[in-house]
Amino acid sequence: MQMTVFSTQRYDRRFLNEANLALGERGFGLHYQEAALSADTVALAQGTDAVCVFVNDHLEAHVLEALAGYGVRAVLLRCAGFNNVDLDAARRLGIRVARVPAYSPEAVAEHTLALILTLNRRTHRAFNRVREGNFMLEGLLGMTLHGKTAGLVGLGQIGLATARILKGFGCRVLGYDPAPVGEFDALGERVELPALLAESDIVSLHAPLNDRTRHLIDAESLRLMKPGAMLVNTSRGALIDTGAVIHALKRRHLGALAIDVYEQEAQLFFHDRSGDIIDDDVFQRLLTFPNVLVTGHQGFFTTEALREISSVTLANLACIRDGRECPNEL
Ligand code: NAI
Repeated sequence: MQMTVFSTQRYDRRFLNEANLALGERGFGLHYQEAALSADTVALAQGTDAVCVFVNDHLEAHVLEALAGYGVRAVLLRCAGFNNVDLDAARRLGIRVARVPAYSPEAVAEHTLALILTLNRRTHRAFNRVREGNFMLEGLLGMTLHGKTAGLVGLGQIGLATARILKGFGCRVLGYDPAPVGEFDALGERVELPALLAESDIVSLHAPLNDRTRHLIDAESLRLMKPGAMLVNTSRGALIDTGAVIHALKRRHLGALAIDVYEQEAQLFFHDRSGDIIDDDVFQRLLTFPNVLVTGHQGFFTTEALREISSVTLANLACIRDGRECPNEL
């Protein structure tokens, strides 16, 4: 069975090759593309049976129709989120779609903490100062996390892993999730979203992106947040209305923002744009704030997670090839 793998970087190829090698004779023909999958690049999948995609590949109905026309019968997401796939169209076309639901929730939770700690104690700024021989502390003042209230929106695998770490820091942990999540009761207190926003010193988003969560953080919810609170998003960019967030930062109501994801990230993230003029004025405005920290969707980026993503992706493909039920099918 042959698979076209879109949006690949060197590290994707390395870990997928390792996982494929481990399968021996039951391995697959993997055809790597640097390009993201879109209407413009879909023809690259011709002659293969499956495509493997990541967070910024676009699988709208017309792309899936083109794939079906080429005889592609499976889409393998090497990520947990699946907001970029038109699942109804895939079903209609008989294309099976599988994902990697939980490769390392701790990896994303730990990156969430890295963002919180960096932004709070300004270690990114301290690093630069010290390198220049500037040992002044002015501007580096943070807060003690112990005893502070952290609110988690979404209490799935990553939300729970984040709750466990924050509890270890001695934070009071609040959580909001419309679904029942029994495991959270040992870690924190379930509240409704308005109460979470009003009481939290740190609000961290761990809900999936869908029609109900798009712009979950908008002007209205920002108004409900405690003045000076920190907002963290390591989930999906479109959970946040970036324009409203910029407004709240300019009003000095939102105290700090840390994001690993951005609504328009597909044009920027996972590429070296250091020599380019970046046209996205909203993104560039974000970078001008001293209290904003941005990383380029690296929450998942640990050796353990990449290993797990690769082996589960190929195990999903093996299920489809062998006509077996796939536990990670959507
Ligand atoms: P999960 O499916 O285990 O948990 C998501 C939780 O969000 C569920 O409990 C669900 O009930 C809850 N939820 C749904 N709608 C909600 C709403 N309106 N408000 C609050 N909660 C809501 O997913 P997991 O593994 O915890 O991942 C969460 C998200 O993190 C993924 O959807 C993905 O977008 C993102 N992610 C980001 C990564 C990165 O590298 N930055 C890597 C992996 C995932």
